[in-house]
Amino acid sequence: MKKKNSTNLIHAGINRTKFMETSEPLFLTSGFIYKTAEEAEQAFKEQKKRFMYSRFGNPTIEILQKKLATIEGAEACWATATGMSAVFTIFMSYLKKGDRIVAGRALFGSCHHILNVILPKFGIEVELIDGKDINCWEKALKKKTNMIFFETPSNPCLEIIDIKEVAKLAKKNGAIVVVDNVFATPILQKPINFGADLVMYSATKHIDGQGRVLGGAILGKKKFCNEVIKPFIRNTGPSISPFNAWVLIKGLETLELRVKKQSENATKIVDYLQKSKFIKKIFFPYLEESPQFNLAKKQMLGGGNIISFELTSKKNNEKEKSFSFLNNLSLINISNNLGDTKSLITHPATTTHHRLNKTEKMELGITKNLIRLSVGLEDAQDIIDDIENSLKKINI
Ligand SMILES: Cc1ncc(COP(=O)(O)O)c(C=O)c1O
Repeated sequence: MKKKNSTNLIHAGINRTKFMETSEPLFLTSGFIYKTAEEAEQAFKEQKKRFMYSRFGNPTIEILQKKLATIEGAEACWATATGMSAVFTIFMSYLKKGDRIVAGRALFGSCHHILNVILPKFGIEVELIDGKDINCWEKALKKKTNMIFFETPSNPCLEIIDIKEVAKLAKKNGAIVVVDNVFATPILQKPINFGADLVMYSATKHIDGQGRVLGGAILGKKKFCNEVIKPFIRNTGPSISPFNAWVLIKGLETLELRVKKQSENATKIVDYLQKSKFIKKIFFPYLEESPQFNLAKKQMLGGGNIISFELTSKKNNEKEKSFSFLNNLSLINISNNLGDTKSLITHPATTTHHRLNKTEKMELGITKNLIRLSVGLEDAQDIIDDIENSLKKINI
């Protein structure tokens, strides 16, 4: 019988050894031995299915992959060393010289670097568009395209892209659809149900969620993962460490609890920010007055734990005001990471997105008074008090 998410997060993928341990076993080994040379030959000829080398197969990593695939409702999963290696693996395993990729331009800074700097070096055409506007997708997809890539909600202004409508256009064109689902997590959004072909995660974020390890994941159809993703990972090695995979397995056990509580906290903080005279603008998927609210509700089960907001400020002192606000905080930590049990805050214009030029920042709404808050598991009122105290202390 099909189990619910909460059950799968705990039990899916487990493969106990003969010792019948309760917790998932950690196979911290780079390789595996063969009883005979014949056995090794058979394994390399793929006549016998068994673990050979942890770059492309390890029992602990396999538990993580099976668990993630079950939660996502995907046929297959490949775990990677980081979220960025998942993104890069997807691009480089599928695209070739002369191919074309269209991406929503509201993306994490390193994704911009891959699209703007690395892919063109390999003769891959890249077009970045306003992903919120379905007309832009329609126009861009008039030209033969091989892949579509976008984040929804996006980093840092939480733009929402209509996965179903974009996927419909992509199918007509023959392009595959890749969704970076990091901000939503598999708890709040399942892009495959709306027509996405591949979903990727930075498992470093909510999946670990406790600031310990880096990790990534690629999820999709079995045939695609076996024929395209597997040979690329096997031969180029963006593989995850079994230790990190084990930590992520433990992280997944509490993912739903954490994401739900963090979303609840975030909603309370948004309510507070809406009333504050120090706040000019709020970006949050479940903000009722946002024109994207209905779309967010259609494809997400909650608003998530990331809130971005602009401080009110006079011209020319936005950066100083933002820095003063961040420096006055005592509970919320300044960090470019997100999805952690600890509330983390950053100034995107000078950190995660500092490499974008002025025009790119303007197009994405990354102003000098924009702050991104990743809401943690602390008491919501304590987080609000910290924000309020800090806002009152700004003396610029
Ligand atoms: C939306 C998004 N995608 C991808 C990444 C990259 O993940 P990682 O840091 O695990 O490489 C990040 C964060 O860093 C991110 O916020």
